Amino acid sequence: MSNRLNNFRYFFLSRIYDLALHWFYRPLVRRLVAAVNEQPGQQVLEIGVGTGISLPFYDAQRKHVTAIDCSLPMLATARRRAAHSPQLHLTLEHAAAEDYPSQPGQFDQIVFCNCLSVMKEPAQVLEAYYNLLPTGGRIYLLNHFTPERGLLRQVDRMLAPVGAVLGFKNFFTLPSLLNADTMRYTSTLRAGYWRIVEISKADNPA
Ligand SMILES: C[S@@+](CC[C@H](N)C(=O)[O-])C[C@H]1O[C@@H](n2cnc3c(N)ncnc32)[C@H](O)[C@@H]1O
Repeated sequence: MSNRLNNFRYFFLSRIYDLALHWFYRPLVRRLVAAVNEQPGQQVLEIGVGTGISLPFYDAQRKHVTAIDCSLPMLATARRRAAHSPQLHLTLEHAAAEDYPSQPGQFDQIVFCNCLSVMKEPAQVLEAYYNLLPTGGRIYLLNHFTPERGLLRQVDRMLAPVGAVLGFKNFFTLPSLLNADTMRYTSTLRAGYWRIVEISKADNPA
């Protein structure tokens, strides 16, 4: 999606996004961030931070968070929200994941909440960030994932054109995202249509 189109879409979405997702989504984000907080290493990168739903859940004593988003309206909301967590060491930046200049080993954990499915080439983005992780680093994903079979798979397939108009991939499978050769250690922290997945970069993960 072009940045201009993205800004236009999210100008409207930023106003209703939190209300729409509050009841079921926030607890999932909280759970994901709790898993991040438990990990060693201070530096966290959150990609596509949106309105900053996740920000209050980071442990300010343990984590320094860099959060990027390519939508200015979403970032403006995140900035307002961040003002309520002044103790959190936070850097908010306007950037697209594809262009963000991060160094190998710079971030211990990298978080993608509901944003890979709105990207054009999500598997490439994921792989690029996986390659930047240090050994022992982890990626956390929260997203809807189309199941391998069943009614929901058919529904996702049917609604794919609607999703395309709205700017996200309705039909979105986990295997299509993961490079099975390199991302060998993946675990599901929360199963279901909305899944939390941890990808560890380790020779021998605990
Ligand atoms: C559906 S929202 C999710 C926001 C937030 N992560 C959450 O869970 O509430 C997707 C966000 O990803 C951002 N985004 C989309 N493509 C992006 C890209 N290529 N790089 C950075 N951010 C992107 C959008 O601007 C939007 O804020």
